[in-house]
Amino acid sequence: MTTPVIDIDRLVARLDQLAEIGRIDGPNGEWGNARLALTDDDKAGRDLVVEWMRSLGLAVEIDRVGNIVGTRVGDNMALAPVMTGSHIDTVGTGGRFDGTLGVLAGLEVVEAMNSAGVTTERPVAVAVFTDEEGSRFPPDMLGSLVYAGGMPLEAALAIEAVDDGATLGDELTRIGYSGGAPCPPVAAPHAFVELHIEQGPVLEAEAIDIGVVTDVQGISWTEVTITGRSAHAGTTPMAMRRDPGYVAASITTFVRDLTRRFGPPLVGTVGRIELVPNLVNVVPARATVTVDLRHTDDDRLGEANEMFARHLDELAESENVEITTRSLASFSSVEFDSTTVDRVAASAERLGYSHRRIVSGAGHDAQMLARICPSGMIFVPSAGGLSHNIAEYTAPEHLAAGAAVLLDVVLDLASGTVAD
Ligand code: GLV
Ligand code: MN
Ligand code: MN
Repeated sequence: MTTPVIDIDRLVARLDQLAEIGRIDGPNGEWGNARLALTDDDKAGRDLVVEWMRSLGLAVEIDRVGNIVGTRVGDNMALAPVMTGSHIDTVGTGGRFDGTLGVLAGLEVVEAMNSAGVTTERPVAVAVFTDEEGSRFPPDMLGSLVYAGGMPLEAALAIEAVDDGATLGDELTRIGYSGGAPCPPVAAPHAFVELHIEQGPVLEAEAIDIGVVTDVQGISWTEVTITGRSAHAGTTPMAMRRDPGYVAASITTFVRDLTRRFGPPLVGTVGRIELVPNLVNVVPARATVTVDLRHTDDDRLGEANEMFARHLDELAESENVEITTRSLASFSSVEFDSTTVDRVAASAERLGYSHRRIVSGAGHDAQMLARICPSGMIFVPSAGGLSHNIAEYTAPEHLAAGAAVLLDVVLDLASGTVAD
């Protein structure tokens, strides 16, 4: 047995190979991915990762919501596994590192252990969770949410795709990833640790190698549908209009005003506006708008949502339109297990990396796993703080540092003989 070490070239090669699936090229050499959940490209990405898992000797199981878990044997298979992993689905214009790093660094940790002949007391599992992004099937973190018992399986399988109305269950069957393993699983992992890019500007700005994630902020997604009356753009006097297009714009400016009124850390985004019939000379009949609000303080997020709801009532009255809302996601903020957080910090320190504690602005599978086992996260810097953008980039030395910390934490957790 030798000391296991991360091979960064191997990790980068896997990241590059996976990113060829659903590749998007930008005008200036930047490239990213469109691998929306349960599309043909997601299937191709899953197939590649499963092939890699098998070639590393992992026992692969697919569960009923399509989560993939590859398990490396431990000396004592009666003990619950230490789990790592993340997701490989992307937003429609996503980067090459969001999620994929956590999965492929997990495989690199396994390969480093295999090459060094390392055995661990506990099994080590690498998970690929279904539909983390929630762009196609809201909410986000869906696979890990069901895994953690936060949504009934049947409810998840019935969710309809935003783009084509197909159900999650049908799409899982279509791509061959409706597995037989129970979800939630029979037993929770011993612990879960996820490596992820920061997706924000803090680590880069402060020239810090490793973010030790303490919390994830609360998330609220609302879909608003506004129904008015389709009318002629030239002949309909302004006072006679019932105009969902105007209301959609008003919602957008209200969300920005709300963030000004609250100040940081409230963030608010209108990411999707659809007008029907979407024609130059027709007052729209209907508009659909999505609003994403996030805050570290659940009470403040609740207040923001209440103010937003009041604004919608006022608009419905003043603009003579009908407004209905549907919650697409609603997750409280999450505080990670302090022992796991300390363990991540201790590994970064031991390996000589600069590190700081940080709150995650993005949602992550680890926040769902935190419901069922001690969980934590490792962040590495994102160039320019950019993510959900094909130009998303993290330099190999940062990827290597994150993977090394992940390896250290996994070895530490998996070698312990403490009973469950
Ligand atoms: C999902 O990962 C999100 O933070 O939007
Ligand atoms: Mn992610
Ligand atoms: Mn993402």
